Amino acid sequence: MENNFDDIFSRFEGRKDELIPLLQSVQEENGYLSPEIIKAIARFTNVAVSQVYGVATFYAQFRFKPRGETHIMVCRGTACHVKGAPRILEEIENQLGVKEGETSFDLKYSIESVACIGACSLAPCIMVNGKVEANLTPKKIGKLFKPAVKII
Ligand code: FES
Repeated sequence: MENNFDDIFSRFEGRKDELIPLLQSVQEENGYLSPEIIKAIARFTNVAVSQVYGVATFYAQFRFKPRGETHIMVCRGTACHVKGAPRILEEIENQLGVKEGETSFDLKYSIESVACIGACSLAPCIMVNGKVEANLTPKKIGKLFKPAVKII
């Protein structure tokens, strides 16, 4: 959760060219970049808030929403793609009611897609809170996650 970033800031001088490593360090600590953090970084580096956003939004590595309690990384690499990754992603989205790149309102789940999770021989695979789930089928997805509560 968000805290005081003086510790992190103390490792930097506040130069404009430190913006990316600074954003990376803060995100690593906090999990995402909130508007308050962006403002604090802008003050620290003496760069306009809009410019900090400009840099941060340019790079796919930066997140502006918190991750879910269960963070799912769906591999979209070639090996996974040819073995059905798009269907796996679709099934996860349907099961959990969360779209790729988003976090559920209750902060339980977040889904992200990545270029390769380095387990190509186990394709199609995903990573759930850092643990690889291999050789998936849409059917297996239902067993992996408790279905989100649906309003009837
Ligand atoms: S392509 Fe999916 S793990 Fe490498």
